[in-house]
Amino acid sequence: MKRQILVTSALPYANGPIHLGHLVEYIQTDIFARFQRLRGHDVAYLCADDTHGAAIMIRAQKEGRTPEALVADMAVQHQRDFAAFGMSFDHYGSTNSPANLAACTGIWRRLRERGMVVERSVERLYDPVQKTFLADRFVVGTCPRCGAADQYGDSCEACGATYPATELKNPRSAHSGAVPELRPSTQLFVRLEPLQGFLTEWTQTSGALQPEVANYLAGHFLDKPLQDWDVSRPAPYFGFEIPDAKGQFWYVWFDAPVGYIAAAMEWCERTGRSLDAWWRNPQCEIVHFLGKDITYFHTLFWPALLHVGGYQLPRRVQIHGFLRVNGEKMSKSKGTFVTAARYLQYLDPEWLRYYYASKLSSKIDDLDFQVDEFVGKVNSDLVGRVVNLASRSARFVETTGLSAAYPDDGGLFARAAAAADAIAAAYEACDYREAMRLVMTLADAANEYVERMAPWTIKKDPARAADLQDVCTVVLNLFRQIAVYLQPVLPGLAAKAGALLGSPCNAWDAVATPRVGVRVAKFEHMMARVEAEKAQAMFTPEPSAPAAGNAPADPAVPATAAPGAPAAAAVGGDTTLAKEPLAGEITLDDFQKGDLRVAEVVAAESVPEARKLLRLTLSLGGGVTRNVFAGIKGAYEPEKLVGRLVVMVANLAPRKMKFGTSEGMVIAAGTDGEVYLLSPDAGAKPGQRLH
Ligand code: 2FM
Ligand code: ZN
Repeated sequence: MKRQILVTSALPYANGPIHLGHLVEYIQTDIFARFQRLRGHDVAYLCADDTHGAAIMIRAQKEGRTPEALVADMAVQHQRDFAAFGMSFDHYGSTNSPANLAACTGIWRRLRERGMVVERSVERLYDPVQKTFLADRFVVGTCPRCGAADQYGDSCEACGATYPATELKNPRSAHSGAVPELRPSTQLFVRLEPLQGFLTEWTQTSGALQPEVANYLAGHFLDKPLQDWDVSRPAPYFGFEIPDAKGQFWYVWFDAPVGYIAAAMEWCERTGRSLDAWWRNPQCEIVHFLGKDITYFHTLFWPALLHVGGYQLPRRVQIHGFLRVNGEKMSKSKGTFVTAARYLQYLDPEWLRYYYASKLSSKIDDLDFQVDEFVGKVNSDLVGRVVNLASRSARFVETTGLSAAYPDDGGLFARAAAAADAIAAAYEACDYREAMRLVMTLADAANEYVERMAPWTIKKDPARAADLQDVCTVVLNLFRQIAVYLQPVLPGLAAKAGALLGSPCNAWDAVATPRVGVRVAKFEHMMARVEAEKAQAMFTPEPSAPAAGNAPADPAVPATAAPGAPAAAAVGGDTTLAKEPLAGEITLDDFQKGDLRVAEVVAAESVPEARKLLRLTLSLGGGVTRNVFAGIKGAYEPEKLVGRLVVMVANLAPRKMKFGTSEGMVIAAGTDGEVYLLSPDAGAKPGQRLH
């Protein structure tokens, strides 16, 4: 029976790049979507960028551009990375879309009609410099339980405690470094208690959740009255203004999951389908994939919104753990926080798809990336056990093609065909580790046959040409079955196998019928072996990347460019460097006399009497500001600079000018009209010294 399956991955935030941690989920979901298509089902794999919220607004401000420009840029980057890793989305949308506003508005209206929205005034932390209320994780300070420094406003990474941001000791805004103030704010809440019975029933008995998730919800949330959910944020906020509450915006977690529906709406619109036939159809199986950190949103709030909105609830919520690298959390300073783009500079994306598949089960356990294991699995399983089947047989039948009838193979083909149900069941359960194990067992049996029959020896005897053709016919058919079984994981390899044998590996049933009497294409190289050094290099911090504690780059680390990186431009000729040659050598002591600091532009205005000057008020945090005149009028509009971070020379002797005293200098590249201010990466704080 043909099933209708709507599959989603969690929508990635538009404020950062896709990294190896994200890819655990997208690869897991893509394998599921491809598997279902291979089985002949009607599949929609939908995703979108999650674009709203304070973090994106503030980052855009720092970068001197609009949030819309930032999210447009990230959409391109995300989709480029996803395409490189083979994600087979049927539609990729954005939560900042008319479709999403329409879907949110529809659900909101129904919440209002049911009396589920209430208004209440609450005290919230406010950043007096950024002039914005602060989300919990933008407040940092000392843990009220264990005293660990530099913890977030919602939880402590040292002791695991969770607490309201208002309890954090010595709180500071992560954006500006300012001490937050408590200010009253009128917020809109969605009442969840009226749905307590419904949510208990759905989470505990629908079978949509993994048992450990159902138990967690029963023990942590559903055992007491469900709390109201604060879904509004006061301006300024990058998001949708609530249609019936001026100056209030939906909290990003309200409109983010609705983005799944918006993506479905756009996809239906684009392809002439009906949304009702998908999201309001009880026959349609909705399957969400997501990480364990966002369980709560997807298993309580989201079902509540769907229920009230009159949408079908998920048939399944498949939750996975986090990625670790060599047993540890991913870390930027250790070089183990690897972006998708960086991975692609070193390694083949299909290797990662297989490696993750070989480790993923249907459980919520974390997945540990171990470099040695990665190299071993790719080289021994994929190259040694799978691709080798083709490379050791295809060349011998390049001129003859496959035998006209399928030869006696001692039952190997039939046994591999009979494994289809067990392999399908493992894929269906998202137990890809088991699916890969079953497939590799078939590969072992095929390799054992190759070794026993030794086609390279038969080849030496011209009288045994028919035997050679028969043996290779068996081996290539076993290879083809394996390529079909692996197609959801390795679509690229399956396509090459299809091209070799003149028939695409794009239907599950193909494993049941051997190919005979057909030509075999010229054997083309199918997959390279991983070089362990490249995998190691990928996880090695770049010498130029800020190391832990901002220590100077270790001179013992050779400054090799990543493979594929453009070579440095040659020095000389009409280059920038030739026009402005390097200055004479100085000592480290000389350099350290200059005190370079991160500073935030808190005010900027044009100096009307001066052709080139802007007057900047720079904050070094803690209420310390400096007045600086900068010759950047031709390149920057003053109002666009407010809120962004710059680098300043903070210990220059003050200089009296016609318009006032300049108390420092901002660092910029270029001259006159072509001036480029320097900014630190996101996360730097005003007052930090450059080393
Ligand atoms: O945790 C996250 O990365 C969120 N951007 C996921 C949103 S999923 C859905 F609700 F939109
Ligand atoms: Zn603590």
